[in-house]
Amino acid sequence: MMNWKLEEEGYDVDKIATNGNKFLVGNGYLGIRGTLQEYGREEFPAINLAGIYDRVGDAWREPLNAPNGLYTYIELNGTEYRLPQISPTNHHVALDYRHGIFHRETTWETPVGKVTVKAERFASLKDKHLIAMKYIVSSEGEGVLRLVTGIDGDVWDINGPHYDYILPQVEQGILKEIGVTHESGDQVCVCEAAVEDFPMEIKISDEGRKLLRVITIQAKAGISYTIYKYISVYTSKDRADFKELALELVQKAQTEGYATVKRLHTEEWEKKWKVSEVVIEGDDAALEGLNYSIYHLHCIAPRHTSYLSIAARGLSGQTYKGAVFWDTEMFMLDFFLHTEPTVAKTLLKYRVDTLEGARKKARSYGFDGAFYAWESQEGGFDACSDYNVTDVFTGRPMRTYFKDKQIHISSAVVYGIMRYVDYTGDCVILSEGGAKVILECAAFYYDLLVKKVHADHYELHDVIGPDEYHERVNNNAYTNRMAKYTFDSAIRVIGLIDKLDQATAEKLKDQYDLSRLYSRYSDAAAKLYIPQPDEKGIIEQFDGYRNLEDVSLQELRGRLLHEKEYWGGAYGIATHTKIIKQADVVTMLNLFSSDYRKEILLNNWEYYEKRTEHGSSLSACMYAMLACKCGMPERAYSLFLKSATEDIRGEGKQWAGLVYIGGTHPAASGGAYMTAVEGFAGIHHEKGVLTADPKLPAHWTHFTCKVIYRGDLYHVNITQDKTEITKLGRA
Ligand code: BGC
Repeated sequence: MMNWKLEEEGYDVDKIATNGNKFLVGNGYLGIRGTLQEYGREEFPAINLAGIYDRVGDAWREPLNAPNGLYTYIELNGTEYRLPQISPTNHHVALDYRHGIFHRETTWETPVGKVTVKAERFASLKDKHLIAMKYIVSSEGEGVLRLVTGIDGDVWDINGPHYDYILPQVEQGILKEIGVTHESGDQVCVCEAAVEDFPMEIKISDEGRKLLRVITIQAKAGISYTIYKYISVYTSKDRADFKELALELVQKAQTEGYATVKRLHTEEWEKKWKVSEVVIEGDDAALEGLNYSIYHLHCIAPRHTSYLSIAARGLSGQTYKGAVFWDTEMFMLDFFLHTEPTVAKTLLKYRVDTLEGARKKARSYGFDGAFYAWESQEGGFDACSDYNVTDVFTGRPMRTYFKDKQIHISSAVVYGIMRYVDYTGDCVILSEGGAKVILECAAFYYDLLVKKVHADHYELHDVIGPDEYHERVNNNAYTNRMAKYTFDSAIRVIGLIDKLDQATAEKLKDQYDLSRLYSRYSDAAAKLYIPQPDEKGIIEQFDGYRNLEDVSLQELRGRLLHEKEYWGGAYGIATHTKIIKQADVVTMLNLFSSDYRKEILLNNWEYYEKRTEHGSSLSACMYAMLACKCGMPERAYSLFLKSATEDIRGEGKQWAGLVYIGGTHPAASGGAYMTAVEGFAGIHHEKGVLTADPKLPAHWTHFTCKVIYRGDLYHVNITQDKTEITKLGRA
């Protein structure tokens, strides 16, 4: 049995950054890092916003952190009691990840006895613009207690400051800060209402960035003083009347009261778990890790709009530029397909919405069609820079080619759309722009085909596959196979054209010479070279891979001159070896396993696993899933657990030189879900029927979950010797 609680006793300054990720709460519109109320920018607090970005100077463009309306600290008899400045006698933090509620309790010793702060807060899942907090102070001794609370507009940024100025205002007792961004003048409005009955004054400091209430209380021994805070966040991108809405929302919350706001929030979480909870008996670590991963996926699901995707670090901050990678379609999509298909569609509609950006990117390289952004921000803008890594030895930026050569991103978009169509049986997304996206991606790959004069096949040259340590290679097996998949998908779409709504079908027929495209893409799909297994059954990752130095991971690690040096690029230690960063051929085999004999799957798994650093959190789950397909659940298990506990362990890299790169790992969370549900439980669909072919690890005595398939909700119940799938009715 799990208690749905992640807890930590004691205070450790070194955990400030990791705990910000571990104890995150969020609702898809915003994510609140698991930091403490009194923290200032040095401790990386953030109310990170989805889908709104800003750029200052030449630095990376990154998402915005809203002015921090949670900001609160105490002062007793003239001394501020706050972390990390004053060491506590007791400190406890907890995340109730069943309901997305963060708790903290801290006690300090003072000359008049102990003073204790207890607080809880949540990002409302009911109203995505609302945050609520309860903050309680009690002192053992008497004295003048000051509670300072309000909005801190001096936010933490990696490449900020993003607000050129902040307008502090007070309206009907409500504090309001409006931050105006540097690049496009977007506005972020935060309102704060605090409910208490004590005298207070309002103070503005830090050149208007901090707008605070100072509440003064003659504290009595042993009495608790409580304040409730409601904070709303709206931006000028949400609605024209965003400021009025922000004000009205906190007023409404004040009227409803904390208990009601909290009840509505927890009810919403219960609705999510009713469908998405996975129960594993016989393995508490897996049970906890998996549901904690699912919690994080819920926290970042965009439910407030119909076209938005998820950033590679979710809503845990500005790391990775808040950008959307192939992580969404290849690793996170399946969770939403199985539990909340409307969110899956929202993620894909983001790609439809950013098609123009992808076409522009293709054009900028002189190609036809759609080349999706490697690190996509709004409008499909590619935030990936030419110099994405800094050399630790020279301090100089290194030219990397992720943006230019990771062409497999477009095929991930196609894969996502077709997977949605096949799984849900709903072709409407094709009429809503999906068909055009697929045709444009096929046009892009078609333009990239290389044919040697005497050859009768096509190749793809100068690419980077999922393994980023080997840049600019020819015929990467994954990329070529995915390009073929794109051609096949375009052919399918052309075949489906008359099933789309009439207006879309007519428009596509006007715009494209579909019969010519049909024959072009049929030819390309048939003749594109797909690296085949050699005499030992091994598929070469790219041309020439087999001639690289075969060194063990251990030996390669021993060659490092600096713990943070980059393994790829021109001088990287892995570049001229067979060591790869992450699953590459294995990802391809996992997606197309039915094309290969089991022996081939197994040979390649064995061959590549020992040569994989798993230097990306995306890697382990692909090996785990293929291990399940090879009938090796025991070997899949540790890789599954690695993905499922990525954020609970919080041991991932936090720093690259002086740049903070930590955050949550939603792709690993999605990969853990896929491994459990599609791998161990073997849930899949065949000809419109949901079925399961389980391969549970021996110590899992019972597995249950619910999945939505083609509009119906199913209950899946698996033990070591029986499998039942029951239709429960319309989802
Ligand atoms: C991985 C990519 C991934 C990105 C974002 C990189 O380290 O190599 O495959 O898309 O991180 O998660």
